[in-house]
Amino acid sequence: MAPIDPHSFTDSTHPLTTHISLSFYFDFSTSTISSSALLTLTSPYTGDLVLDTRSLTIISVLDPLTNTHLPFSLSPHADPIKGQPLTVSVTNCSKILIGYVTSCSSSALQWLTPPQTFNKKFPFVYTQCQSIHARSIFPCQDTPASRVRYTAKLNIPGQLSGVMSAKHVERRGPVKGEEMLACDEALWCAEGRVVEEFVMEQPIPPYLFAFAVGEIGCREVGPRTKVYAEAVGSVLDGAAKEFAGTEDMIRVGERLFGEYDWERFDLLVLPPSFPYGGMENPRMVFLTPTVIKGDASGAQVVAHELAHSWTGNLITNKTNDHFWLNEGFTTYAERRIVEAVQGEDIAALNIGIGWKGLVDEMERFKDNMELTKLWTNQEGVDPDDAYSQVPYEKGFQFLWRIERQIGRAAFDEFLKKYIAAFKFQSIDTPTFLDFLKANVPGIENDIDLKTWTEGTGIPPDAMEPVSNIYTKIVSLAHEFKQGRMPNEEEVANWHGQEWELYLENLPKSVEASQVTALDCRYRLSESKDYEVKVAFLQLAIGSRCSEYYNVVEKTLKEVGRMKYLRPLYTALVQGNAGKEEEKIFAQRVFAEARETYHPIAQGVVESILSKHL
Ligand code: BES
Ligand code: ZN
Repeated sequence: MAPIDPHSFTDSTHPLTTHISLSFYFDFSTSTISSSALLTLTSPYTGDLVLDTRSLTIISVLDPLTNTHLPFSLSPHADPIKGQPLTVSVTNCSKILIGYVTSCSSSALQWLTPPQTFNKKFPFVYTQCQSIHARSIFPCQDTPASRVRYTAKLNIPGQLSGVMSAKHVERRGPVKGEEMLACDEALWCAEGRVVEEFVMEQPIPPYLFAFAVGEIGCREVGPRTKVYAEAVGSVLDGAAKEFAGTEDMIRVGERLFGEYDWERFDLLVLPPSFPYGGMENPRMVFLTPTVIKGDASGAQVVAHELAHSWTGNLITNKTNDHFWLNEGFTTYAERRIVEAVQGEDIAALNIGIGWKGLVDEMERFKDNMELTKLWTNQEGVDPDDAYSQVPYEKGFQFLWRIERQIGRAAFDEFLKKYIAAFKFQSIDTPTFLDFLKANVPGIENDIDLKTWTEGTGIPPDAMEPVSNIYTKIVSLAHEFKQGRMPNEEEVANWHGQEWELYLENLPKSVEASQVTALDCRYRLSESKDYEVKVAFLQLAIGSRCSEYYNVVEKTLKEVGRMKYLRPLYTALVQGNAGKEEEKIFAQRVFAEARETYHPIAQGVVESILSKHL
């Protein structure tokens, strides 16, 4: 008996699941899903099989071949990170059918009431499963070491439609019997209900399971891309315009990393409470609406999620300890795509913004350097709390370092070979290093691979980007400390990313009068670009400029993207000296905004506040 993943109860001696058939009856009046899951194992098993669950009510467990009940027990103790193990006793069994109901507080699901949507007419629900929230929707071996194929039948009210990160089979009326153990046949087949049926033919880790149900419309933007969003003309039009260049990026990805294996690359723009910028759900990426800025700059987030189609979704980290294999590779791949479509200067800006982010994380983790490693030990650590720029930016730096060592042509060849060798597998850091050493003989003599993967901090051979525009902006930021603001001519060509880089490189705290002077001149607090606005508001909070607290409050109440919530709440509550007013303010705003956040964001903000209050 040995766990294979610090974040799962899956045992190394148990067979893994290869296929899951799901039947979901969505009940918007209780914010629950009455469900059934039919799990198929790699081989027949005898003994106690353990599955991950979180806040699920298990109704019954059957052997579907004999229709007999299987003894099961759900641990009464819920581990705060891993949830409740479900143990099923089986004898020579390779299929297990489970009837259960999700909870209204399922950590993967956000249920929006009609008033919380754009059109205010219909409810909306969507998932976010990474890293360990799939278990709050269905019992499973919720570790990326496992890969499953699945089918799903979503039974929903006829006015709504359902989308998934899977192939759409059909939309049709309910059929008797297909509810399995989800609910009564009468309920499943009730008038006004429809079934949206999906199949996922490629094996995926459970964290890539995703759906959304609501009043959803779409526009075609390319031969294999449609953009989906709440059915609002202006939102769909804005999204279609913003993402018009998607097909070009897919082609660049194919040239660099090999064939695109997922057939479709659709985009789903979610309500503003979506907790991430983007999520690489296969066949259908999920996106925050904050990336739609009207200037095609959302392309960076799309490039990132697209890059995951190769690095992350084809080759997956075996556990979250090796998360950098997902995000570091993807950040590298994203910047290669950005460089190809937007040019070297923009790519250098992104690298520079990332570099500053990495430097700042070293300060954040100075009392717990474990999380500054690429290969981490996350035993007892909630991945949502461990989330940082380190796997992204230190991972990027490591790969960039290898590229500098062997040259771009050789590195490109290596990358293609790596992806072809491990596609549809889940791997760890040693597997990558062995492959690197086998394919780039002698690399270990030129680069200290152990320091890079197992050491803390930033290795000495990491590098800031070199580019005129990057260097100019950073030096202007340094001049601000001496009281000089950039003039109109200097900022004439600045877009969101230039401002973001500038603001991030200013000191955390300056004179309040400098903050207002900067804003009077450049209206940063009114920026439509949340990256700019939030970077400015952080400076305002750090400088105790309370006249901006109403803008802070408004921002915290209109978006739920954690990239914005984290720094704003942290800036308000961290440090002691005389910050009582800010702390009370943060608590009040959170109490008022809480219900509008996704459960994952609620948890993350709670843990920020509890650490500092
Ligand atoms: N897979 C991540 C989002 C994620 C990470 C969700 C960990 C849950 C746990 C996604 O690919 C991502 O990195 N999104 C970034 C995009 C950015 C780097 C362009 C984000 O949300 O900010
Ligand atoms: Zn990512």
